Amino acid sequence: CGIVGYIGKRDVQPILLSGLSKLEYRGYDSAGIAVLEQDQVKISKAEGRLANLSVQLDKQPLKGSMGIGHTRWATHGRPSNVNSHPHTDMSGKFTVVHNGIVENYMELKIELEQKGVTFASETDTEVIAHLLAEHYEGDLFTAMLAVIQRLQGSYSLGVMTEYEPDKLVAVRQSSPLVIGAGQGEYFMASDISALIEHTREVYILEDGDLAILTQEGVSITKVETGEPAACKLMHIDWSADQVEKGPFEHFMLKEIHEQPLTLRNTMLGRINDQNEVIFPELAHAAGAFQHVDKIFIVACGTAFHAGLVGSTVLEKLTRIPVQCDIASEFRYRDPIITERTLVIVVSQSGETADTLAAMQESRRQGAKVLAITNVPTSSVARDADYVIATKAGPEIAVASTKAYTAQLLAFYLFSIYLAQERQTLSTELHTKLVQGLKALPVQVEKVLENANDVKLYAESIKDADSLFFIGRGLDYAVALEGSLKLKEISYIHSEAYAAGELKHGTLALIEKDTPVIALATHMDLYEKTVSNIKEVKARGAHVMGITVEGNVGLLNSVDEICFIPPSHHLLAPILAVVPLQLISYYASLALENDIDKPRNLAKSVTVE
Ligand code: G6P
Repeated sequence: CGIVGYIGKRDVQPILLSGLSKLEYRGYDSAGIAVLEQDQVKISKAEGRLANLSVQLDKQPLKGSMGIGHTRWATHGRPSNVNSHPHTDMSGKFTVVHNGIVENYMELKIELEQKGVTFASETDTEVIAHLLAEHYEGDLFTAMLAVIQRLQGSYSLGVMTEYEPDKLVAVRQSSPLVIGAGQGEYFMASDISALIEHTREVYILEDGDLAILTQEGVSITKVETGEPAACKLMHIDWSADQVEKGPFEHFMLKEIHEQPLTLRNTMLGRINDQNEVIFPELAHAAGAFQHVDKIFIVACGTAFHAGLVGSTVLEKLTRIPVQCDIASEFRYRDPIITERTLVIVVSQSGETADTLAAMQESRRQGAKVLAITNVPTSSVARDADYVIATKAGPEIAVASTKAYTAQLLAFYLFSIYLAQERQTLSTELHTKLVQGLKALPVQVEKVLENANDVKLYAESIKDADSLFFIGRGLDYAVALEGSLKLKEISYIHSEAYAAGELKHGTLALIEKDTPVIALATHMDLYEKTVSNIKEVKARGAHVMGITVEGNVGLLNSVDEICFIPPSHHLLAPILAVVPLQLISYYASLALENDIDKPRNLAKSVTVE
């Protein structure tokens, strides 16, 4: 979910709507705003996309200069008007927007109902409004402190009350929240992108911080101690147009096309004149990785797929055993973690609850944590021992593209860096890899120039019931990401299989004209993959082969082909994934889906 809030002198409705439009990636099941009109809070909410709320507000605008808003990704309570935020107490005096889950809400709800409170919605959030009404004795700050004592779980909040029309309250607990400082006006939002058109001066709240916003200023308190929080004003140097689509029809297409630039940015300053990989941000870690005897890579979704590639490359170059885990599974499977374990967490947003929880558990057990993240101000970055920032810039489309390739690049760089430190890399391979990395941005440009080649193919699969991606080694890891991309935005069922494993079961699903996308970019495994392609062809599959330029022989075994420029096979995933991103994009475009905001998903999932 996403939260916004504003207090100042300007008309608040357009500010809230524009802020919410930047946060829609966090959920789009419903949206709502509350505005203080004269001395009364008025609420407008609508199920579905923010556009529905905008239409409603066009007809019946809310006028005022203070308000809060919310865009929802449903957890407790189905998407509906009544379950949309903001929520109020029975008197309508206290209004709340919430991101997270109040884990003990059932217990609180029963208690409140026994006291005669009636609930309007099925949400966990509503208990907060009722509790506020119960605890309020003339001071919102004190009442908030009392209410927070009662809550368990994750709750970032925006709160206002008619009783104190000169203030807004923001609370952060486990879900991100930032405060923006303007001239005589203050903002709150789940993410900087929602404030950036108004101000670049922000406070990034920590867990357990409570902020009171007025037109004159902001005061931030640590809830636990009641002491002022040591939160510093930070200057953000993004520009607002980084969160605009520009000439592209969708953010996803823009982000796919930004990859040459984001790869250049992620590499910048990290390869010196002697072709060594350097990480100035790891200077404080000097020698810290020498004693590492086991590495876990932990992440979710696309970041997990980047971790799969990372685990192979890291293990190959450093000869340290590396295992890649899904974050929501990792901490519950009792992994063997010691002080010699390095846990690498990968997260575009740096706010994914599963990833955060896994990293906290790893640290508790004595491991050091290295975070690879795209948001250096995020919770993951702040909690980690070491941070490598991917420089992909804000990624807005829910389906991740440029963040994934930047994560792959970060893994390549870190693997070489660690191999340099441990002296496990031959000079020859070192040179090849570094030259290969430097060539990647131009090579990705080349793949993008041929985007039209895959467009027709993508349109041809739009009515398929099911599709298979196959590959061996790193091609298999890329196949998993290609399949996820397609599922996320086209809603076509697909599966990714290790090409050699297909014959052990899944081959039964291949029939006449079943589309199969086969990756064959690794020349050492090429012949074996071609045999697997022949197996599906023999069962009638229609095969699109993705291989390295020059491999024209593959044309004898496939129906269609897409070439990527030659590079070291360890680096090929960055090139091979681009046609897969484009195939998903164009298939979804042909299906007229909402590409940037696929159904049921959210970009940043801050609940477990
Ligand atoms: C969500 C998104 C995915 C993303 C995953 C991990 O589920 O829909 O696209 O890969 O979270 O996000 P993170 O920000 O941790 O990389």
